[in-house]
Amino acid sequence: MLILLIIFAFICFRNTYAENNFYPLFHLAPEFGWMNDPNGFCIFNKEYHLFFQYNPNSSYVPGIAHWGHAVSKDLIHWKHLPIAMYPDKWYDKDGVFSGSAIVEGGTMYIYYTGNVNLPNETPDHKQYQALATSTDGVNVIKYENNPIINGTQLQPDIRDPKVWKHGDKYYMVLGNSYNDGKLGRALLYISDDRINWEMVSVLAESDGSLGYMFECPDFFELDGYFVFLFSPQGIKPQGNKYRNLYQTGYIIGKFDYATNKFTVIYNFREFDHGHDFYATQSQLDEDGNRVVIAWFDMWEENYPENAQGFTGHMTLPRIIRVTSDGRLIQTPVKSIASARGRNIYSGKMNSGEIVYLKDNVGELLILFRFRDFEVLIESDSGSVKLSYDSKKRIVTLDRGGNDGIRRTSWRPKGKLMWKVYIDSSSIEFFCAEGKFAFSSRYFPSGSVRVRLAPNSEAEEFIVNEMKRTV
Ligand code: FRU
Repeated sequence: MLILLIIFAFICFRNTYAENNFYPLFHLAPEFGWMNDPNGFCIFNKEYHLFFQYNPNSSYVPGIAHWGHAVSKDLIHWKHLPIAMYPDKWYDKDGVFSGSAIVEGGTMYIYYTGNVNLPNETPDHKQYQALATSTDGVNVIKYENNPIINGTQLQPDIRDPKVWKHGDKYYMVLGNSYNDGKLGRALLYISDDRINWEMVSVLAESDGSLGYMFECPDFFELDGYFVFLFSPQGIKPQGNKYRNLYQTGYIIGKFDYATNKFTVIYNFREFDHGHDFYATQSQLDEDGNRVVIAWFDMWEENYPENAQGFTGHMTLPRIIRVTSDGRLIQTPVKSIASARGRNIYSGKMNSGEIVYLKDNVGELLILFRFRDFEVLIESDSGSVKLSYDSKKRIVTLDRGGNDGIRRTSWRPKGKLMWKVYIDSSSIEFFCAEGKFAFSSRYFPSGSVRVRLAPNSEAEEFIVNEMKRTV
């Protein structure tokens, strides 16, 4: 009897997620501890380097940021390296915050923000811009005369330098909050020597509609335009738009290097429509494609993976292009094909069939005719529904629970093509060849299986296994 009672209590009170491993198979995640923004994305000695905001001491809180470090030859297979930077200087003692890297003459130049808390003072923190270098791609040395930008008139929120070179000058864009912390903006700086920087213009600013702070700004030329990609905080939800705590989006325009002015052509649009996509960073790949990677999580979500010793993933790296109507199209890098395992399903599919995913991971390639359509990614704890409403012309990701729905309008021409990457606790859903993407975390219980909702029919449905790459 006692044994039966113990078994009954175990079944009732066990953590429903306990049997599932949320650690990803083909996305970069910390070995343990907390991960947020991608940083210092660059190519050094023929390898991609990706640093990231990292707390090695806890998976439950961001703590005091360090820079974690990983390398890859193809942007899909990653190897972890030792921690690159610790918060060990007076100007970064409360966080080695986000930043970027450029590589010149065999040296990696890293620009980052040092965060200093000032308890009992107003403002209660300050942020300095600092430089560090590496000549071997592993050991990073902080510049002895840091900080290189004090930002005296611009405190307390001035951070996340993104640096690039144009001609013989260096350019840096920094996120800032102005008007007593009520409005966000991006500031442009120029340097002749990588060390002394002068502010030359305000690249973009919020009139209120774009929130109170621009985090992780990025600025680059693409397909004849300039793209300002950033993560504004404080945009209010508007219908289907801006439903996450913070957003990531872009403004497309023209930039004049003679006047340092950016002129807007296409206004702010969200980059991804899912729940968990933040703090992007871009870099050119070996073939000159612009690749974007983001933190696959959202502030204040505290997902249950933290009980498994880690928090945060990176998204799949995505190649971006500008479309003729001023949108960014995004497709996972081609080398994702090297993570593909066996094909486990291929053919027309109807609602009677169920495909179980090995290790709860898989790639779905779906082609369907123009009519209502719904794919269910199910587990014992519920389902994530990806659907298309052909009358309203809306595509939806519904992960269930509180605030489960994310949607956007889609007026497809021609084929209806979806590509979905399912990793242990994440779904990346690309539709219309990357014109829309939804990236959302989910926490399945038991085996994950895929099927179509009643009355849905696919012309072609392909399910591939995925292999471990990290
Ligand atoms: C964005 C951000 C950055 C900051 C970093 C701190 O997620 O808040 O603005 O540098 O994270 O970890």
